[in-house]
Amino acid sequence: MANKHNEQNRDVWNEIVELHYNHPDYKLNEFLDGWNSLKQIEKDALGDVSGKSLMHLMCQFGMDTLSWARLGADVTGVDISDKSIEFADKLKQAAGIPEAQFIRSDIYDLIGKSDKKFDIIFQSHGTHCWIEDLDKWAEVIAHYLKPGGTFFIVDGHAIADLFLWDDEFTYFHKGPYKESNWNDYCDRSYKVKGESVEWMHKLSDFVNAMVKAGLTVVAMDEYNHSYYDIKGDWVQKGDYWHPPDGATKYPLMFSMKVTK
Ligand SMILES: C[S@@+](CC[C@H](N)C(=O)[O-])C[C@H]1O[C@@H](n2cnc3c(N)ncnc32)[C@H](O)[C@@H]1O
Repeated sequence: MANKHNEQNRDVWNEIVELHYNHPDYKLNEFLDGWNSLKQIEKDALGDVSGKSLMHLMCQFGMDTLSWARLGADVTGVDISDKSIEFADKLKQAAGIPEAQFIRSDIYDLIGKSDKKFDIIFQSHGTHCWIEDLDKWAEVIAHYLKPGGTFFIVDGHAIADLFLWDDEFTYFHKGPYKESNWNDYCDRSYKVKGESVEWMHKLSDFVNAMVKAGLTVVAMDEYNHSYYDIKGDWVQKGDYWHPPDGATKYPLMFSMKVTK
């Protein structure tokens, strides 16, 4: 049965994906000219992906998915948003990668939607806040990984939210928080109409979910730079963004590498 909160988030992503697809921050024209949207951390963590099967969870319109394909992986992207998958299918044709596969699915309902098992499962940047139940999420990853396969996630750190936003939440907050009328992260002048439902996760929750699913955490890291310009006046160095007055004293992102 469809998950009510996730369906609400599906509507939100259907509302905003076109804005992102066409926004200069996503560099569509550069991508079509051959630019690769993957960042250093995931490229270093996963190394040579050529000839490997790779599933990209919560892929939006698939630019990162197709970037892995350009590095030689046989890719499958997954996203709950119908419009995101429509744009991903459009982008794969425009980029000349018709063999890439995209599946529209809630991550909770993904088991049974593909017959394949994967060498690599990848997830990045702006994703775990949309997942309520990390145990269910880890079971899906365990199902789709081949024995010996690797899951890698790099994403925002919940600690950063506590320092950067004026919310009442603690690091230990449980339960959903609903947001409406928020400013889109690309087009900051656009107020999102739909109400989104998000969740906070402590770092230990990710590890425990993986352990419960029978997977092995082999590496974790934390970073004091961000994957995007969080406040609109941050300074870019290489692939990452820093506050104008220097490095933060707290983590902005984390990564975790897991094997089956
Ligand atoms: C910030 S975007 C991810 C951006 C991504 N890193 C990229 O490469 O563009 C978050 C994505 O998660 C998707 N999403 C949210 N809830 C989901 C769910 N329950 N199952 C699958 N995808 C979901 C949204 O539709 C959206 O495309």
